[in-house]
Amino acid sequence: MKTLTKVLLASVAAALLAVKWNAPTFNPESLRGARVLVTGASSGIGEQMAYHYAKFGAQIVITARREKVLHQVTEKCLSMGAQKALYIAADMSSDSDPERVVNFAVDHLGGLDHLVLNHIGSSPFSMWEGDVQHLQWLMKVNFLSYAQMAWKALPSLEQSKGSVVVVSSILGKLTSPFVAPYTSTKFALNGFFGALKHELTMKNSNVSITTCTLGLIDTESAMEKVKDVSHVPAYPASEAALNIIKTGATRQRELFYPWYTYIVALIRDFSPDARDYMIQKSYGYKKA
Ligand SMILES: NC(=O)c1ccc[n+]([C@@H]2O[C@H](COP(=O)([O-])OP(=O)(O)OC[C@H]3O[C@@H](n4cnc5c(N)ncnc54)[C@H](OP(=O)(O)O)[C@@H]3O)[C@@H](O)[C@H]2O)c1
Ligand SMILES: *[C@@H]1O[C@H](CO)[C@@H](O)[C@H](O)[C@H]1NC(C)=O
Repeated sequence: MKTLTKVLLASVAAALLAVKWNAPTFNPESLRGARVLVTGASSGIGEQMAYHYAKFGAQIVITARREKVLHQVTEKCLSMGAQKALYIAADMSSDSDPERVVNFAVDHLGGLDHLVLNHIGSSPFSMWEGDVQHLQWLMKVNFLSYAQMAWKALPSLEQSKGSVVVVSSILGKLTSPFVAPYTSTKFALNGFFGALKHELTMKNSNVSITTCTLGLIDTESAMEKVKDVSHVPAYPASEAALNIIKTGATRQRELFYPWYTYIVALIRDFSPDARDYMIQKSYGYKKA
């Protein structure tokens, strides 16, 4: 092995260990009775987060558009041990729904301890063909509503010394073909909440912000998109959900899940041409 490669691998290993050592331990009791709002909780990772919070005995409000499914999820949450489980149907592409949802949660829970922003609108897995209207809509759902909800919830979170958890993606740090609108919204989230985190620290705020850098997770919607095109292994939604909850509850800055997302983020700028070549090759795309 070349010396440079050895040094590189050793630093990556050391960095990974440092991350592990610094991680504060999660106390499940800290979530008993905690007042939590989870968005995008009618399916996928959000639904799994609702079940984990329920098992920890939290009081939860969940939201998404499909009322019937939300109702079923809250019933299951109650049977799993949630102290409270309420739902509110809302469309995050609307101007007013994001704030309406925060108000609902704060009113019905008597305050808020964790705001978990997770929902996404659906976006095609295809080359960019200039659909600016779709881009505008997706920005509203995946990004603007997050900024609106976080700002609206901030006073309640200051009072409770609470936390904002933002579910982002490795595609918020690294670009890929076929997902231009999606990756734009995730880069926007990382930029916005990075800036907000600075400002909260400078203001001596009581509120923590956690961003979650996820790789491919085996939710139905994600599997449907990549099943024929990607050979990246998909990790379980339930485990992703639990890791998000633990990282938020311990007020850590960032979650990398699964582990390889951390390596990717670390070496991202080491050799951009090689990186882009490998990303493009990984799709086995054939020019028509
Ligand atoms: N799965 C992955 O591979 C992966 C990888 C990296 C990051 N992530 C991130 O993880 C999070 C969850 O992903 P997922 O795979 O679990 O997604 P998902 O299963 O597709 O769930 C999306 C959720 O958002 C809701 N939603 C969709 N449009 C909405 C709208 N206009 N207004 C309000 N709610 C809306 C959906 O419910 P309704 O249809 O009922 O509204 C659903 O509950 C996302 O932030 C995603 O970017 C996922
Ligand atoms: C943090 O919480 C304390 C009460 O514990 C409060 O007095 C203070 O104003 C809060 N900080 C901010 C920035 O709101």
